[in-house]
Parts: sequence; structure tokens; C-alpha cells
Amino acid sequence: MDAKLLDNVKLLYEKDSKGMLKALAELPHQCYLACWELPGQLQLEDSVPISNIVVTGLGGSAIGGDLLRVYCLDRCSVPVLVNRDYNLPAFVGPDTLLFAVSYSGNTEETLSAYQQARQKGARIVALTTGGQLAELAQQDGVPWIRIPAGLQPRAATGFLFIPTLVVLEKLGFLSGVEKEVAELVEHLKTLQKNLAPEVPLESNSAKQLALKLHGRIPVIWGASGTSEVVAQRWKGQINENAKAPAYWNVLPELNHNELVGFKVPSELLSQLHIVILRDPDDHPRVQKRMAITKEVIAQSVAGITEVSASGGNRLARAYSLIYSGDYTSVYLAFLYGIDPGPVEVIDYLKQALASNGGR
Ligand code: PA5
Repeated sequence: MDAKLLDNVKLLYEKDSKGMLKALAELPHQCYLACWELPGQLQLEDSVPISNIVVTGLGGSAIGGDLLRVYCLDRCSVPVLVNRDYNLPAFVGPDTLLFAVSYSGNTEETLSAYQQARQKGARIVALTTGGQLAELAQQDGVPWIRIPAGLQPRAATGFLFIPTLVVLEKLGFLSGVEKEVAELVEHLKTLQKNLAPEVPLESNSAKQLALKLHGRIPVIWGASGTSEVVAQRWKGQINENAKAPAYWNVLPELNHNELVGFKVPSELLSQLHIVILRDPDDHPRVQKRMAITKEVIAQSVAGITEVSASGGNRLARAYSLIYSGDYTSVYLAFLYGIDPGPVEVIDYLKQALASNGGR
């Protein structure tokens, strides 16, 4: 493997059949559109007071729900739950606000949960590019946000997540969303100048990290309440973009189990590269735990890299880590000679299910 490959910008674009690099470059604008254009026409009528919020979706369409859940933890007066299943929890009812999120609009688990939400009388907002979900929403008179098509779902987190913040602000559950998104957009533009393919390896932290992860098993650790979803996102992006295994966990929980498992088998542990995501809002005791944890595992693993969030607000900081992980996973794909865009295994699974009595 030739590290110089990552600086062959023309070749990277040629190997990127689904435009993942272009989508990353356009993420700041995507976040802008997601806040100021997409939810614009949405009609939200007053009805029963809302006492819980559920986001139902899968994969790239669900991760925005987790971002919302963490964002709302200390700001929203009602709980937010993410549902990645055919079935909804029993508590869902007329006092539930349910976001049904499917980029394609054709994911069977999400369609099933949507139907259940209708039966339970939940208040629904759908987010989709079209497909059966858009058809159902139109037919049922359910408000829906039309997401621009042509991306991979995981490249559309701005479109799939930010409108949910706007809706919650319109309903009085959040405040200050526009200001935070405006800062986020500017921050992403700045970060883009450091992470883009045109920035050479010697000064591009995402390319450097991709090199460290190449040939290793990445293990991504975040912290509860700050980077926990981002760690999950990094794992998913390495899986889907680089088509490689990756694992994630969070502190402090991993100090109470996973950390014990770094003794044997030493030959496998020596193949792990640990990435620790850091945020200034990490609990002070968790920051101490990170330092001790590093000492405990240092001799067992191939390497440890810390990646620190940057940005002036929580949204910008979370996205700074997401952006860094997204770029790293795409560069890792190129190092493996893999086209980051297609996810043939997911396509195969959906087709196989459809020909076996699916919707
Ligand atoms: O990233 C992907 O392609 C997947 O994780 C999809 O998001 C997932 O399969 C669900 O599909 P959709 O987003 O169309 O509902």
C-alpha cells in the first residue's frame, strides 16, 4: 500500500463512484439547506400535548435520531427514544411525536413502524426522498419533509437530522437552533479546508489517521452524553465506506467491562487501534478515566489516537468529530482499494428479503 495514493486527488475522485467526497465537500451547504429550506413548508397543527418523542429509522437514517437524543438530553423537557425495529414500544400513543425517517422511503422496518404509529394515533412527521413512505404520508395527510435524492443515506445526515431540531424548536421544545446551525455551517467550512482530498497527507489529520487504521481493527471510544453517538457513527462509516470491521463503546461504561478484556489473546489485541473521541464537555471524571484507560491498554494494542472536538457549540463540536470520522473512513476505503459509496451487501439483503415475502 502506497501512502502517496491519498494525495493522488484525481484518482480518488475517479474511484469514488457515488460521489462520497463531493457529498462531504457539500456538507456545510447541506446543513444550511436542512435548517432554512427543507422544513419551510411544514404545517404543524396543535393537538394533544406531546409527552415523548420517538425517531424510527435504520442505519444512515437512524443515526440522526441518536444525535437528536443526545442533543436533547439536557435541553428538552420530554424523553427522546430511537427505534430501530419493525415494532414500536408500547408507550407510543397520541401524545407521541414520531419522526419516521427513511432516505429511500422503502425500508421495511420503518414502514412497519410508521403503520403502527398510525394505528396508535401518534403525531407523525416523515422525512424521506420519496418511496412508499412519501406515498403513505400523502395518502394519510401526514406532514412530511422532502429530502433531496441522489445521496447515500449516510451522506445525508444533515438533511435527516437538522430538520428534526427545527421541528422541535417550532413546537417549543428547543430554542436557539438557527444560531447553532449557522455556527455549525461556518465551522464545517473551516474544517473542510483541512480535511479535503486536496490537502496533502502531511497536513491532513484524516488521511494520517486512515493510514494508522489501515491493516488494523479500529475500536472507537466516545463518552456518554457528548461523543457517544459519534463513536457509533465512526464505526458505521468505517463499516459502510471502507467495508472493514470496527467496534465502538463509551466511557464510563467500558471501564466496567470492556477494559478488562485487554489481556488475551495478545496477538489479536495487538491488531487493534483505539480511537478516543474527546469533547471539552466530557465529565471531568471521564476525562481522568480516559487518561487511566490509556495507560492500562497502551502495551496491548497497536496504537491509540485521540481526536478532539472543535467548535463553539455542542452541535458544531459533534459534527467536527463526525466530519473527521467520515473523511477518515473514506480515505481508509481508498487505502484498501475500495470504492466507498456502494453498499452491495445491504442492497443484496434488501432484495433477498423483498423476494421472500417482503413489502
Ligand atoms: O447507509 C445506508 O445505506 C443504510 O444504513 C441505510 O440507511 C439503511 O439501510 C436504511 O435505508 P434508508 O435510509 O433508505 O431507510
